Amino acid sequence: TRPTILVTGGAGFIGSHACKALARAGYQPVVYDDLSNGLVEAVRWGPLVVGGLADPARLAALFDQYRPVAVLHFAAFIEAGLSVREPARFYQNNVAGTLSLLQAMAQAGCDRIVFSSTAAVYGDPLQTPIREDHVLQPVNPYGRSKLMVENILADQAAAKGLRVAVLRYFNASGADPEGELGENHQPETHLIPLVLQAALGHRPEIAIFGSDYDTPDGTCIRDYVHVADLADAHVLALRRLLADGDNLTANLGTGTGFSVAQVVAAVEQVTGLPVPVRRSDRRPGDPAILVADKGRAWTDLGWQPRFPDITDHIRHAAAWMRHRQAD
Ligand code: UFG
Repeated sequence: TRPTILVTGGAGFIGSHACKALARAGYQPVVYDDLSNGLVEAVRWGPLVVGGLADPARLAALFDQYRPVAVLHFAAFIEAGLSVREPARFYQNNVAGTLSLLQAMAQAGCDRIVFSSTAAVYGDPLQTPIREDHVLQPVNPYGRSKLMVENILADQAAAKGLRVAVLRYFNASGADPEGELGENHQPETHLIPLVLQAALGHRPEIAIFGSDYDTPDGTCIRDYVHVADLADAHVLALRRLLADGDNLTANLGTGTGFSVAQVVAAVEQVTGLPVPVRRSDRRPGDPAILVADKGRAWTDLGWQPRFPDITDHIRHAAAWMRHRQAD
């Protein structure tokens, strides 16, 4: 029988791609998701249990029924801007929710967890590419909530032997290369889908937030990592934990940055359509450059992205968007 893996947030963008990768690698994903930002149609590689992290009885019953050998913990609020306006909601969901998950895991004797962290734990970087030992000074409650959970997991590892892999994602993008899954945030705030919507005429224009950054073309630079590559990294991290490998914290990024203007140009090139652009003010809290030092994921996880080329991200995301439009 296939080992069962509990996937919190498994109906969401990255979680759903991870479920597909798990199933392909011989695991049985069980999705636990409140569907607050998820796609029901994404859950097709295993059972879906609808529920929230703030429900200890539900969680206990879930562990009792499925007996997972490990948890991939994606479920969280992710929008940095919203976290500034609603900090308590963020800490409640992301921090208190994880504590209730950890309690259910401890009661069930499940002691392995892969945690979705973020480049936002670094805050405004002092050097790029950013290594994992860079100072951790998040600049918004979202980043702080993820750092709090990293610290809680480290303490539980030291005290109780919890086995932990912390994966710090840079900018997740793209869509399933086979067209079965994609991004569907409500509201959408991520750059690549917004630029695609502007190219395809689903929105009038894209606002470029700031053109006076200290970068070659004045727009912000990010490290866009393909969601299918993120999914692969979770399978590698899981295998490591199940083989009793050491705990690990690793960036997931390609090590290459693209500016907002370069993303717009790449979308125009891939789609053959013009993108109406409006230059607007900086968005508060955006660092000029966020690019990963990719070394640790390469050496310690043996991870190598299959889709380092941003035009693949755009092609896959565009195919998904057109497919959803046609539905
Ligand atoms: N941008 C625009 N116009 C838009 C939207 C975004 O110019 O309409 C710019 C942003 O200013 C930024 C870049 O495009 O420079 C990327 O923005 P996203 O909102 O797509 O992504 P972020 O880099 O802000 O944040 C993402 C995730 C976070 C995560 C972070 C870590 O959304 O959850 O990456 O790197 F913490």
